[in-house]
Amino acid sequence: MARVEGKVALVTGGASGIGLSSAKLLAKEGAKVVIGDFNIEGAREAVKEIEKEGGIASAIFLDASVEESIKEAVDFTVDTYGKIDVLFNNVGLTNLQKDLDVVNMDLDEWDRLMKVNTKSVLLGSRYAIPHMQKVGGGSIINTTSMAAFASDAIRSAYGASKAAVAHLTKYIATQYGKDRIRCNAVAPGLILTPAA
Ligand SMILES: NC(=O)c1ccc[n+]([C@@H]2O[C@H](COP(=O)([O-])OP(=O)(O)OC[C@H]3O[C@@H](n4cnc5c(N)ncnc54)[C@H](O)[C@@H]3O)[C@@H](O)[C@H]2O)c1
Repeated sequence: MARVEGKVALVTGGASGIGLSSAKLLAKEGAKVVIGDFNIEGAREAVKEIEKEGGIASAIFLDASVEESIKEAVDFTVDTYGKIDVLFNNVGLTNLQKDLDVVNMDLDEWDRLMKVNTKSVLLGSRYAIPHMQKVGGGSIINTTSMAAFASDAIRSAYGASKAAVAHLTKYIATQYGKDRIRCNAVAPGLILTPAA
């Protein structure tokens, strides 16, 4: 029996890299998968690839910096497949040109990375948790980074945003474990994706 047979998963940033590989694996292991991504063409392409392998998937445009768009992606998942068991909060951005050291960094970029990398995790969880509570549990997985635990000469906002995700993960697990909702984070090192 496949490991996530019958489950429904929403993968954010699923058109490329870690999200795409995860979406494919979830589908291969029996889950119905919704791919939410800014790159809707890429998300549709991923759906085709999953369907070619016999999996079930759908795509939805998602802008992880917009609260309404995150809510729409969660609602679309529930409307399409009846529930949401797994939320993979995977969208994340880095910017080597503007996210510099503390003195020289672009402050608008600080705000953007906090919104896309951190607030999107809060919002995705906020909208998915009530649906998970209704079906007796679920699993939230957040992509943080080794940058959450180390430090660097640049990328101050990225590191801080991912450290916040790592800690928010513990708060979600603490607050909703009683509802059988698990919350875990993955902290990759360097993975050779398009972003890297
Ligand atoms: N690749 C690495 O070395 C590495 C290391 C540590 C952590 N990470 C984290 O892993 C996650 C995935 O990274 P990746 O390397 O697979 O990147 P990637 O660029 O290959 O994929 C990211 C996906 O997110 C989408 N996206 C970007 N901004 C978006 C937005 N605002 N709304 C919706 N979708 C958006 C992109 O279109 C893309 O499909 C990120 O959170 C990243 O910070 C990556």
